Amino acid sequence: MAAGAVQVADAPLICLRGVTKTYGEGATQFQALKGVDLDIAAGDFVAVMGPSGSGKSTTMNILGCLDVPSAGTFLFRGHHVEALDRDQRALLRRKYLGFVFQGFNLLSRTSALENVELPLLYRGDEKKARREAAMAALDKVGLKDWWDHTPAELSGGQQQRVAIARAIVTSPDVLLADEPTGNLDSERSVEIMELLTDLNRAAGITVLMVTHEPDMAAFARTVVHFKDGLVERIEARHVQGEAVSA
Ligand SMILES: Nc1ncnc2c1ncn2[C@@H]1O[C@H](COP(=O)(O)OP(=O)(O)OP(=O)(O)O)[C@@H](O)[C@H]1O
Ligand SMILES: [Mg+2]
Repeated sequence: MAAGAVQVADAPLICLRGVTKTYGEGATQFQALKGVDLDIAAGDFVAVMGPSGSGKSTTMNILGCLDVPSAGTFLFRGHHVEALDRDQRALLRRKYLGFVFQGFNLLSRTSALENVELPLLYRGDEKKARREAAMAALDKVGLKDWWDHTPAELSGGQQQRVAIARAIVTSPDVLLADEPTGNLDSERSVEIMELLTDLNRAAGITVLMVTHEPDMAAFARTVVHFKDGLVERIEARHVQGEAVSA
């Protein structure tokens, strides 16, 4: 990040203050976010829940630097993201963030390996380095042997694994997943949640995931409930297999 910028030792990884988002103009104007305050600690596994239209995806898109707030503050590691221009936001996204969508968003005529290589291609990595990193990411999601298959030759769960491999191939600090299991049956969904749990615990990636399903939210350590464009409440959970700190 920019030299000379202030580093705040104990600041949360992500901090939203008074974040609003207004879509449209004039009579068709709609305020999707009405002043969101949210702190995300590094290493947390967060589930974002709430009714349809409550602002979950809007918030995720802002956190993922795919969109900007209308007003308010978005700090990432203490740096003001809302003050960055489009190119700077793109850099931040490429370096620190990975994004997974409900619909997988893979290139259909392209192999799993090439899909996973894409973020490295954008970054300008050499072919050999790209191949190695992409194969390692496919290995992490359990799909090493499927590298030459196109999305049509993979199941929904496998396609989402490829999308996760693509999101983590750049070793991001944060993985943002908007309803990653929305198109999967419950068995496949649990496998994806176990994978996200593993990435969170073993690789230390901070995970933020939108879900409508309490069974999936049960994998998270923190649950953020949205309502009408605001954070309604935040629940801290104890997760199975984790030591309970005093
Ligand atoms: N690009 C847009 N233009 C206009 N309105 C939008 C746009 N994107 C979202 N909205 C509106 O903002 C509100 C919040 O949308 P958002 O997608 O954040 O909800 P959500 O909580 O993710 O809902 P869901 O659970 O259905 O995915 C909704 O009323 C939606 O119609
Ligand atoms: Mg949504």
